[in-house]
Amino acid sequence: MGKKAVKKTKYACQECGHVAYQWMGKCPSCGAWNSLVEEVDLTLSDAGGSKKPAEDGQLERIISSRKSALGNKAKVVRLNEITDAEAIRWTTQISEFDRVLGGGAVEGGFVLIGGDPGIGKSTIMLQTLENLSKDKKVLYVSGEESLQQIKVRGTRIGVKGENILLASETSLGKIFKLIEEVKPDVLAIDSIQTMFSNEIESAPGSVSQVREVGARLMHLAKGAGILTFVVGHVTKDGTIAGPRVLEHMVDTVLYFESSDDHSYRILRSVKNRFGSTNEIGVFEMSESGLQEVDNPSAFFLSERKEEEAGTATISSMEGTRPLLIEVQSLVAKSYLSSPRRTTIGVDHNRTALLIAVMEKKWDIALGDQDIYVNVIGGVRITETSGDLGVMVALMSSFSGKAIPRNTLFIGEVGLSGEVRAVSQIAERIKEAKTLGFARCFIPQRNLEKLDNAIPGIKLIGIKKAHELVELIF
Ligand SMILES: Nc1ncnc2c1ncn2[C@@H]1O[C@H](COP(=O)(O)OP(=O)(O)OP(=O)(O)O)[C@@H](O)[C@H]1O
Ligand SMILES: [Mg+2]
Repeated sequence: MGKKAVKKTKYACQECGHVAYQWMGKCPSCGAWNSLVEEVDLTLSDAGGSKKPAEDGQLERIISSRKSALGNKAKVVRLNEITDAEAIRWTTQISEFDRVLGGGAVEGGFVLIGGDPGIGKSTIMLQTLENLSKDKKVLYVSGEESLQQIKVRGTRIGVKGENILLASETSLGKIFKLIEEVKPDVLAIDSIQTMFSNEIESAPGSVSQVREVGARLMHLAKGAGILTFVVGHVTKDGTIAGPRVLEHMVDTVLYFESSDDHSYRILRSVKNRFGSTNEIGVFEMSESGLQEVDNPSAFFLSERKEEEAGTATISSMEGTRPLLIEVQSLVAKSYLSSPRRTTIGVDHNRTALLIAVMEKKWDIALGDQDIYVNVIGGVRITETSGDLGVMVALMSSFSGKAIPRNTLFIGEVGLSGEVRAVSQIAERIKEAKTLGFARCFIPQRNLEKLDNAIPGIKLIGIKKAHELVELIF
């Protein structure tokens, strides 16, 4: 047989990478259902002696020219010989964004920003690039909007863009050509689903394209030290469209979220090689773009009007920052054979556990009640320090007695109703004090360990959750 280009279709599992030459509903390797996706087998088609992909050549040229410009030869260095200056981060001058990035962007970092349509991904990119372009060379490549459309947005949000280099392009080969010409320090790709590589036959946005384009951009970022922001769309189930491997590959994965009825947006870090993943950045979308919300606690509490039964304030650590958040609950007589238990923003099972503790230890019957728990502002609480507050909110709704607005509840509750200590208590109390809270119920264990009393706020130590019934209700 002579050398002939053989094209064979293969099916790759998007979960584990297993390759099959025939489609199957279930991956034989990892057992995932519906995870096999058709891909054109490049190695087989290349076996026909076709030349090396042109994009690879471009990539190597960019990397080597950049490296020689930086005088950056391959070498081994001792960790302690690297000066701190070399590890300096580039600030985006948007402190909420810097915080989520782990204290600023890192040279050669690869950041994936996912989010629903219209959430503000392109807006934050433009604002960030404007700031970075003051002392860095930036290139913004949009495959979604025309240059005019970007200009209109820029004008609206006050981005002049004197130093932002723009291109409306979707072909990776052409983008590499632009990079060769422009030699940017910062690159933004909006969005990865619109980009395509000529080496792959499938359509832009398909899994193999997204993976291939992602891999090449990653290679570029690392090889040439270009800070790369890549915008990605999310699928209905909330993950970034495209293969999971994309998330594994990149340094940082951020999600931009919002709640339907609110104008603010939360930027959440779900993976970060350069910082904590618990950080969130809070923004408000306005006519003039995304505005930072410096004091999110005040923001989340700002909608409170008069005291109403069923509401309690809790403190949740989001990364390094304590957030004060309101929990609302509604306990109402049920006419269903199995009463409703609905939770939004708090863990369903955790709430069921707290309800069971209340029934057993507080001696109240909730079995015939519908129970709804909602965290105001669309925030999701992932830590347990809100337990006490959730119980108080439930009890408040059940008994009809409102909780004074100036009171905060902090504490994890165990199965026997004991209140367990929580981390970073001093920060949480300080935040409460700043926001004018006068009274704070905290775990007794935390109170004992607090070195100095914090003036201006009354701290009440709680050992067992049911003590609250006598103290409040
Ligand atoms: N005049 C305006 N006043 C206030 N907000 C506006 C105005 N124009 C647009 N917006 C906001 O900007 C959002 C669009 O922002 P942007 O285009 O950055 O989102 P995106 O995430 O990039 O969207 P896509 O998925 O379509 O690329 C709109 O959903 C809206 O909330
Ligand atoms: Mg956009």
